[in-house]
Amino acid sequence: MTKAIDLEARLFMIAQMIPVCEVLCDIGTDHAYIPLYAAQMDLCKKIIATDIREGPLRIAKNNIEEHGLSHMIELRLGDGLDCIQDHEADTVLICGMGGLTITEMLEKNKRKVDICNRLIIQCMYADEMVREYCYKNGLDISEERICCDRNKLYTAMSIIPGGLPKKVHPAFYHASPSLLEQKTDLVLKYLDRRIGLLIRIRSGMKRAKDPDSEKTDELKEIINKLKDIKNERKDGKEDYGPLR
Ligand SMILES: C[S@@+](CC[C@H](N)C(=O)[O-])C[C@H]1O[C@@H](n2cnc3c(N)ncnc32)[C@H](O)[C@@H]1O
Repeated sequence: MTKAIDLEARLFMIAQMIPVCEVLCDIGTDHAYIPLYAAQMDLCKKIIATDIREGPLRIAKNNIEEHGLSHMIELRLGDGLDCIQDHEADTVLICGMGGLTITEMLEKNKRKVDICNRLIIQCMYADEMVREYCYKNGLDISEERICCDRNKLYTAMSIIPGGLPKKVHPAFYHASPSLLEQKTDLVLKYLDRRIGLLIRIRSGMKRAKDPDSEKTDELKEIINKLKDIKNERKDGKEDYGPLR
């Protein structure tokens, strides 16, 4: 029996969100830690672990062999969802990358995204791009979780494709209703940090030679909406009202 894989908090949060499924695909697997965990926990029958670079796949191969799981995890080299056929994987993970890379991947293979049962997405930055993409493309963020790892906050989304586009207030690009309805101090801390970041971005925009007043006004509205949500959360009110 090989050693059980020990995941750091961010990866553990993602792993806990994987439903029991048939074929799991981990895009941008790098070290293959999540596939190893999923295989050890018997979460699925088969796992396809992909990466765009050969170096990470070599490391993944060593890790998989070390854990005796080569019969369950297949490695593939390539860009995003190009590596899988239609209907080949029912659950797709895209984690540890930036929002731009992730939205480009989703857009490039829209059909494959729409026919899978579930996507689990975890962004390292620019996560607002992914939420906006989801609302506009009928990808329902059914659950969003948060964790703290070495004083950094990470969120991860469980997404059900195949729905209708939704018009929402742009403040919800920064946190989904599913995240905001959670009664935890981590969510408050997340809101504090996000509001601080947006205030700094807006100040930078205003200091520019020729500031775009439409953009700074829009950012102000987002900041105010997030502040309202934070205050309602602090006062213990749980209903954030409609999304608009
Ligand atoms: C920071 S690692 C994240 C590894 C792991 N998913 C995690 O969450 O810890 C990002 C990995 O994604 C890979 N990657 C970047 N762009 C990609 C793409 N378009 N398709 C597949 N893999 C990609 C990189 O080579 C890298 O190994």
